[in-house]
Amino acid sequence: MDSATLLARITDYASRPNPYPLYAELREAGPVVQQADGSYLIGTYHEIAALLHDPRMSADPRTRGEVAHKPPFLRLDDPEHHRLRTLAMRPFGPPHSPRRVDSMRGEIDRITRELLQSFEAGRQIDIVDDFAYPLPVTVICRLLGVPREDEPLFRAWSDALVAAADVRPEDDSAEEDKAGDQARMEMGGYLVNLAEQRRGDPGDDMLSAFVNEPDPALRLTQEELAETAVLLLIAGHETTVNLITNGSLTLLRHPEQLDRLRREPELLPRAVEELLRYEPPVHMRGRVPHADIDVAGTEIPQHASVILALASGNRDPMRFDEPDRFDPARPDNQHLGFGSGIHLCYGGPLARIEAQAALGALLPHLGGASLVEDPPPYRQNAMLRGPRHLPIQL
Ligand code: HEM
Repeated sequence: MDSATLLARITDYASRPNPYPLYAELREAGPVVQQADGSYLIGTYHEIAALLHDPRMSADPRTRGEVAHKPPFLRLDDPEHHRLRTLAMRPFGPPHSPRRVDSMRGEIDRITRELLQSFEAGRQIDIVDDFAYPLPVTVICRLLGVPREDEPLFRAWSDALVAAADVRPEDDSAEEDKAGDQARMEMGGYLVNLAEQRRGDPGDDMLSAFVNEPDPALRLTQEELAETAVLLLIAGHETTVNLITNGSLTLLRHPEQLDRLRREPELLPRAVEELLRYEPPVHMRGRVPHADIDVAGTEIPQHASVILALASGNRDPMRFDEPDRFDPARPDNQHLGFGSGIHLCYGGPLARIEAQAALGALLPHLGGASLVEDPPPYRQNAMLRGPRHLPIQL
């Protein structure tokens, strides 16, 4: 088939259960494959990694005039990006000081145990709604200082924002963009309002820390506070849910590996890394070159849209032996699941704690369980890919 239609075929909902053959086709046609809409799709590990580290690549949608407002730091370039990232990652590091996220381990175990109480033999449960979604939501609410009861409210905003941020062939997104803008404003207003309630009366949460910062040099503007809080709330749960769900699905599809993990639970941290490679929650990220650049012999013009298929890089046989094999003990596993370069996910340590706790606690239940549907129904999103439901019979 025509390699210029690969992006359209990958993002087509029909490909959601298994986009990996299309990624193989992309790498065969690559490393750089121009698409019918003018964008450049890249699916090979070394090219993706190099571009994620290339200062000529912009993450900022204003580079192409796509939006007028200042985006969250996920989509800013240095030096603006660096300042906000540093301010917003204090609870996550530095590693030599006691990290707030490490102190949440006990709490994460407790939430996990509570959720598993309803898992009785003979019952059918939905891994997404009953387990993989409530866990990270509860954790990020606690960390940010957002009332857990408000979940139905921010879930609707989050759905709209995630839909607007999805990767799709160009000129196909006006409606989602409008709904996304509306949701971004409402969600930002809601979070700024919560933060304002803590001014002068701080709790041990991030919103409190943001509004009560004594050093003027470290203070966020109201717009920055809104964008940053929205980013953290969404990034904190929309991805981790997929890691836990994809992980459960993968283990149920590989009963011999599931048994092995039950016998050797010390393999769990490496199994989680392998899941981030084999079934990553984030499949693609977009970038825009500030200048004309040459990638493996192809000239990509300034301001073109470049889509890096991280999930394809994770299956590149030039980088990983037998990339289509799920191997929980895989050595040298530098996957692209958390990205790389200046935007490398700093929620990684928290996501790892959550996924290890969740899958570790789930292992005994998965032993006798079976999938009700395989493949399960998937979420619409191609960039943040994962099942919408994962019904299993215990
Ligand atoms: C399994 C779970 C997660 C996955 C797979 C994931 C994946 C990613 C990826 C691929 C990026 C890089 C995006 C790019 O380069 O364009 C990223 C950035 C980011 N992630 Fe995560 N993430 C996860 C969990 C979290 C959590 C729990 C948090 C926060 C509580 C978080 C916060 C962030 C932030 C703030 C950024 C932007 C960093 C920057 O621009 O400097 N993530 N994440």
